[in-house]
Amino acid sequence: MPRFLTRVLHEGSSRGFVTAVLLLFGCSAVALAQKPAAAPLGIGRAATPADIAKIDIDVRPDGQGLPEGQGTVAEGAAIYAAKCASCHGKNGEGASFDRLVATDSGKNFDFATNPKLPRAVGNYWPYATTLYDYTYRAMPFMQPGTLSANDTYALVAYILHLNKIVPENAVMDRSTLPAVKMPARDRFVMDNRKGGKVVK
Ligand code: HEC
Repeated sequence: MPRFLTRVLHEGSSRGFVTAVLLLFGCSAVALAQKPAAAPLGIGRAATPADIAKIDIDVRPDGQGLPEGQGTVAEGAAIYAAKCASCHGKNGEGASFDRLVATDSGKNFDFATNPKLPRAVGNYWPYATTLYDYTYRAMPFMQPGTLSANDTYALVAYILHLNKIVPENAVMDRSTLPAVKMPARDRFVMDNRKGGKVVK
């Protein structure tokens, strides 16, 4: 066979191979592009405005944002047993998930020197109102947005009572809850170090 023909055949077949590879990749790229970008795994759905409205609250440390409603420790105990104890333990001591009760933070709020100290509502959270905001928005873990305002006040009353912060006859509402002073309230300080990048 003349040499130039060999070269043409050789180059021809490698060009064919390249074309085939391009086609293959091209096809899969088209197939990928046709799947809706929002659902790469084909599960779930977009949140509706109603879904979002259910948990769209902003409760601040001073109580701004708290709704009407109220709840007692006893009411909270019943709701807790039904909806929370399975994950957080019968008395908030923790089970498959976080403990909610801790009453000792060491002599000096000793978390930095004793990493084994548990951090929980009673010894670490600076504001009682956060407990309302978080519980209402995020719990129970598998059904967030299902608690009423009264349920949430009652649960908050019960968890604060388990942490020995409010008495057994406490009633939580939009005026009593912000007045609860948490043990860790004054333990956080503003970062006033100088000389580095200032982050506000
Ligand atoms: C299916 C298990 C499950 C159930 C039921 C559940 N939780 Fe939780 N809870 C979790 C998990 C998981 C976290 C940690 C979530 C995270 O860190 O993002 C958590 C965190 C919390 C925290 C914050 C703890 C901390 O100090 O960081 C509170 C408070 C809480 N849950 C309250 C409740 C209440 C009240 C209920 C009942 C209405 C409840 N949970 C039901 C799983 C559960």
